[in-house]
Amino acid sequence: MGKRTIVKMPGDGIGKVVLDEAIRVLDAAGFEASYVNGDIGWEFWCNEGNPLPERTIKLLKEHKIGLFGAITSKPKDAATAELSPALKDKGLVYSSPIVGLRQHFGLDICMRPCHSYKGNPLNFIRRGQNNTIEEPEVDVVIFRQNTEGLYGGVEWSNPPDDVYNALLTHPKFRKNFEWCPKEELSVSTRIFTKKFTERILRAAFEHAKKYGYKSVTVCEKPNVIRETSGMMYQMAKAIQKADYPGIELWNTNIDAQMMWLTKNPEDYGVIVAGNMFGDIVSDGFAGLIGGLGFACSAQFNPDTGIGVFEPTHGSAPKYADYPVSIVNPIAMIESACMMLDFIDENAIAAKIRKAVAEVIAEGKVRTYDMMKMAGRPDVVEKGAASTRQMADAIIVKL
Ligand code: NAI
Ligand code: MG
Repeated sequence: MGKRTIVKMPGDGIGKVVLDEAIRVLDAAGFEASYVNGDIGWEFWCNEGNPLPERTIKLLKEHKIGLFGAITSKPKDAATAELSPALKDKGLVYSSPIVGLRQHFGLDICMRPCHSYKGNPLNFIRRGQNNTIEEPEVDVVIFRQNTEGLYGGVEWSNPPDDVYNALLTHPKFRKNFEWCPKEELSVSTRIFTKKFTERILRAAFEHAKKYGYKSVTVCEKPNVIRETSGMMYQMAKAIQKADYPGIELWNTNIDAQMMWLTKNPEDYGVIVAGNMFGDIVSDGFAGLIGGLGFACSAQFNPDTGIGVFEPTHGSAPKYADYPVSIVNPIAMIESACMMLDFIDENAIAAKIRKAVAEVIAEGKVRTYDMMKMAGRPDVVEKGAASTRQMADAIIVKL
């Protein structure tokens, strides 16, 4: 196959730094690609009134694969205040460009793997029998429905009359909420469709089958949120029975799951959930394997083959201006590996993951988070590796 073109979208703050380091690692591992720059983020909001310019959407449509750093988002009023003067009175409203990308390209499958590296001082430990210390090996992949549910954006404060009247047709609404003046009512909907629920479930089962996980856990709340969570679980049962009889289907409630994940995280394999619960449970598991310096993600549309790969962390503005960057590039590098898997460059991905594992196991090069230091500019003087030194150490192993 010819050389790939990757759309690199650095975004803001530390997004730029970690993306450059990941590309150095990709180069060193022998991944042959050319990179085009996709503008995205705060700068483009301030200067153009759009954090996701049309030209970036075009690039991604053409080349299909995006590597994304992180962006800065600010609340509505702050966003308007920072617009360039010429754009201030145009009624522009800020919305997150990463959510914009998800919606524009229908990137409905979000995958967030959380696996612990041997020797990572940030790995979760627990107390076992007779006061022993145990370090369970976590190897979980969360499949999060990425476009619907509570983050689907269908919401109102002081809803219009037809919406309000529709709500009044529900007996529970009449019983529990009719007392409230319409002007004092806020409603966020949680919409699940069969089509996209089936897609996330099948993606989860397929992954479990391909990589030999013994179970798929639907992590929702079907006993209370009967319609949406209930539908997802019923569909999971049917899919498992028809097509994946060799894989166990487990059903957990999100609240209980957040408690259990520190009790027996090694028991879980693939987890699948709607948008919000997927967001929550993936942060929970990420905390067990080192947190934001290690949490990577992929989001893609299986029909179009368009995918965007990004660390879970944000732009960490307070670290962005340090003369020497101190943040951990591993989450970004792992996200780049997910990109490689997606485009069938599995051998290069495996090579990079092995190099990362070796550096962590050796324990000589550790970023400030791995040293459990507060993230101050002097951490490098105190023995922590800089962002670049961590990437260099990985490159040496390659
Ligand atoms: P953040 O993820 O940027 O940073 C939170 C803290 O996590 C940092 O202060 C740092 O202590 C730690 N951290 C983050 N990345 C790290 C890394 N690679 N290595 C070591 N430590 C790391 O989240 P925060 O501060 O809540 O948000 C900052 C900005 O980022 C906001 O404007 C927010 O809207 C945006 N954001 C963007 C996301 C995205 O682009 N997908 C996701 C989350 C937040
Ligand atoms: Mg999150």
